[in-house]
Amino acid sequence: MVGSVCRVAADPVPEAPVLLAVLGRGVVDAATPVLSATDEGFTRGDGCFEGCRLVDGAVAKLDAHLARMARSASALGLPFDAASWHAFVSDSVAHLPRTGESALKLVLSRGPSGGAPLGLLFVTPVPADTPRQRRDGIGIVTLPRGTASTAYADAPWLLGGVKTLSYAVNMAAQREARRRGADDVVFVSSDGYVLEAPTSSVVLAVGRDLLTTPIAGTGILGGTTQALLFERAARDGWRTGEVLSTVADLAAADSCWLVSTVRGPVDVVAIDGEPRPRDLARTARIRELCGF
Ligand SMILES: Cc1ncc(COP(=O)(O)O)c(C=O)c1O
Repeated sequence: MVGSVCRVAADPVPEAPVLLAVLGRGVVDAATPVLSATDEGFTRGDGCFEGCRLVDGAVAKLDAHLARMARSASALGLPFDAASWHAFVSDSVAHLPRTGESALKLVLSRGPSGGAPLGLLFVTPVPADTPRQRRDGIGIVTLPRGTASTAYADAPWLLGGVKTLSYAVNMAAQREARRRGADDVVFVSSDGYVLEAPTSSVVLAVGRDLLTTPIAGTGILGGTTQALLFERAARDGWRTGEVLSTVADLAAADSCWLVSTVRGPVDVVAIDGEPRPRDLARTARIRELCGF
C-alpha cells in the first residue's frame, strides 16, 4: 500500500539516544534521520565502530579508541582523520552534563554506493544489566568460533582484529548464551583455544601472571581495556603475557575476567554451568587498574 510502513513485532518505540552528532554537521536533534537506506554500513555491515565510555563528561582512553578506529578504517580502505574525529568527539560531548556514566559509540560507515562515507556518534545509557554483572560476576558459555587459532595469519581480507560493523554473529552468540541461562560467551577456536568474548577480551590470573589471547593469527580484536590493564598491572608487580589457553586453563585459573570498555572487567563465576571460585579483592584491584 502506497505510503504505508511495514511494521514488525510489537512496534516498540525505540529510545532516542541521549546525544546524536554527525561528522561535518555536529550535534543534531536526537530524533533526526541521519542514515540513507542504501548505506552499505547498514546493508552490508561495511564500516567500523568504537564503543567508548563517557565518565563525568570525559571520554576514557579516547586516543586509544581513535588509534584503533584509524587501523580499522585503514583495513577497510575508508578515510579517517584522527584530528577531525578528536575535535568532533570533544565538541559533541561538551553538550552533555559533566556528571555520570554513559556509553558513546563512534561509527564510520561506507555510505551509499557511490556516495561519501558517513561518520556519526551517539551516546546512550550504560546497559541496564551492567551494574548487576559488575557486582555479581557473570556466567559464560563456551561456543565454537569455527576457525583455527592460526586462521587469520596472512589473510587480511578476513579483517581479523578490525572492529567492523558486522557484529551479527557476536550478537547471535550472546542470544545463545542467554538461551542457555548464561550472561555471555567465550569463543573457542577449532583447535581448542580460548579466543575472546563477543564484545570483550578474556584475561586470566594465574599467580602473579596476567594472561590474554595473542592477536596474531587468532583474529581477535586487540582490546583497549586489556592493553591499559596490562600496562598498569606491569607497574603493579604483575607479569603480563599473551598465551593460548584452553577452556580447562580458564577453569583452573585463579581468576578470569571478561574485560571491555563500558562494562569494565567482570569476573567469570561459572563456565558452562560449572561454578568458579571468586576472589573479590583481586577483582577489585583489577577494576581499579582499569579505571573503574
Ligand atoms: C570482539 C571484541 N573483543 C574485545 C573487545 C574489548 O575491547 P575494548 O576493551 O577496547 O572495549 C571488544 C569491545 O567491544 C570486542 O567487540
